[in-house]
Amino acid sequence: MSSQRPETVRRFAAPDVTARKGKTPIVCLTAYTAPVAEILDDHCDLLLVGDSVGMVVHGLPNTVGVTLEMMILHGQAVMRGSKKAMVVVDMPFGSYEGSAEIAYANAARLMKETGCQAVKVESGPTIIDTIDYLVKRGIPVMGHVGLRPQSVLVDGGFKARGKTSEERSRILEEARATANAGAFCVVVEGVAEGLAREITETIEVPTIGIGASAGCDGQILVTDDMLGLFDWTPKFVRRYADLRGEISKAAAGYAEDVRERRFPGPAEIYFAKAG
Ligand code: KIV
Repeated sequence: MSSQRPETVRRFAAPDVTARKGKTPIVCLTAYTAPVAEILDDHCDLLLVGDSVGMVVHGLPNTVGVTLEMMILHGQAVMRGSKKAMVVVDMPFGSYEGSAEIAYANAARLMKETGCQAVKVESGPTIIDTIDYLVKRGIPVMGHVGLRPQSVLVDGGFKARGKTSEERSRILEEARATANAGAFCVVVEGVAEGLAREITETIEVPTIGIGASAGCDGQILVTDDMLGLFDWTPKFVRRYADLRGEISKAAAGYAEDVRERRFPGPAEIYFAKAG
């Protein structure tokens, strides 16, 4: 019997992300399923199991209805599909705001049941102490400032943030406090380039931009947006494919073949053995 342990690939991890501050941009995408995670794993440093899964996969109007159980199931699938990328799972609305202790119990459950390397929380004044509490107890935390989708019902919809000088100062302060509380990186969503650059220059950990210009240390997009699965995408999304068109074309071809009895053909059926 060989005394060698099977070869294991070390995943990208929180210290690797932090070490990339100001260096090669960090490539991140969202993932929700094992097969897509497997494809993205070759190209990404980090896969985020975002609570956007509620809107993208489950057809919810926003992320407020996403549950811890949904995040665990999708987190497990993404971990099974990937080998190299760091996997971060979003803490859903209602799973961390109540108290640091509740946040710790839910973050620990997410990490134990999925095997992910970190959790993400949407930062705000009431969450800073919670980030500190989680990090001090061994849970790597990714912060999220600017447009915070879990707060759209209070903040007034999915629109860019930081348009007034008061709001810009508040977002900059939230990013600084998030980094100082120990977050290993901070997602900056839906803010103008000037503010994104100022945050990036001010905080010591990497910023990951989404709708926040190339002035960040890394970028993230919702994968289904950049694959062109929706007929509408926000201004900041670049579509790298037209999967909506491709899927529609494929379904139309299949439907026509079935109706015309062209599918299945001889190559797609089983034959009984002779004799
Ligand atoms: O839930 C999500 O997908 C996110 C990204 C958009 C950053 O939070």
